[in-house]
Amino acid sequence: MSGSSEPVPGRPYRLEVLPSAGWARVVAASFGARLQARPALRVCLPTGDTPAPLYAELVAAEGRGDAPFASATVVLLDEWVGLPAGDPARCDVRLRDQLLGRLDGPPRFVAIDADAADPDAAAAAHDAECARGLDLVILGLGMNGHVGFNEPGSRPDDPTRLVRLAVSTREAAVTRYGLPHVPTAGITVGLARLLEAGEAWLLVTGERKASILRRALEEPEGPDCPASYLRRHPRLAVFADEPAAALLRRG
Ligand code: GLP
Repeated sequence: MSGSSEPVPGRPYRLEVLPSAGWARVVAASFGARLQARPALRVCLPTGDTPAPLYAELVAAEGRGDAPFASATVVLLDEWVGLPAGDPARCDVRLRDQLLGRLDGPPRFVAIDADAADPDAAAAAHDAECARGLDLVILGLGMNGHVGFNEPGSRPDDPTRLVRLAVSTREAAVTRYGLPHVPTAGITVGLARLLEAGEAWLLVTGERKASILRRALEEPEGPDCPASYLRRHPRLAVFADEPAAALLRRG
C-alpha cells in the first residue's frame, strides 16, 4: 500500500504560519514558556541563518527574566568535521556568538567533538548524550530537505553519526562563509534521536524554502527529503513565515 500518488499518512502536526517580521518573537515566547515550566530543559539547537532572529529574541527574553536558561542543557545539532576549532563557520562558534555567549545565565552546552582523532567515536558519544533524552529539538530545513546534516538518503532509524555532506550543502557553505576549504563531512544528530525527542519544532522562513517545505509536509515521505520523516513525530510543530508557507494547502 505504498502507492506513490497517495500521501503516506503521517501524524497530525501543528502548523503555525506567522508574519515574517514577528515569527521569532512568537517562537521565543513558546520556548521561554518551556524553560519556565521545566528549568532543566534539555534542548537540541541548530545553527544556520533561520534561527538567528529567534536567538536574538531569546537573548532579550532572558534579559527580561522570561527565558531562564541557567539550569538547561543545550545540545548541538550538527557540526562540520575538518574546520579548525574557533573557525567562525563552526556551528559551536556560531551558537555561542548568537546565543550562548550572550546570556547572563548560560546553560550547560554539549558541543560535538569534531576535532577528535576518531570522529565515529565522537559521534557515538554525542548519540549517547542525546539518548539520555531531549525534551525539545529545534530544526531548520535545508534546501535539499536535510535536517541537521541528515542529507538525502538518511533514514528514520539513523543514529547520530559521521556523514558525507551533499554537494549543495557544501556549495551553500562557500557562498555563506567563504570557506576556503569546505569540509566534506559532518557529524549530525540522527533522525532516530530527533524522532525520540519530546517535541520537535521545524522553523522555515523565506520564499526560497516554500517548495521544499511543501515537499516535506505534503508529499509521500521518503529518503530524498529527510525532513519528510519528521511527520512521524507525535509532537511536531512547524513554524513557517508567510512566504515559506505560500505553497502549502491551508484551511
Ligand atoms: C545547514 C545546517 C542545518 C540548517 C540548514 C538550513 O546545512 N546543517 O542545521 O538547519 O542548513 O540552514 P539555513 O537556516 O541557513 O537555511
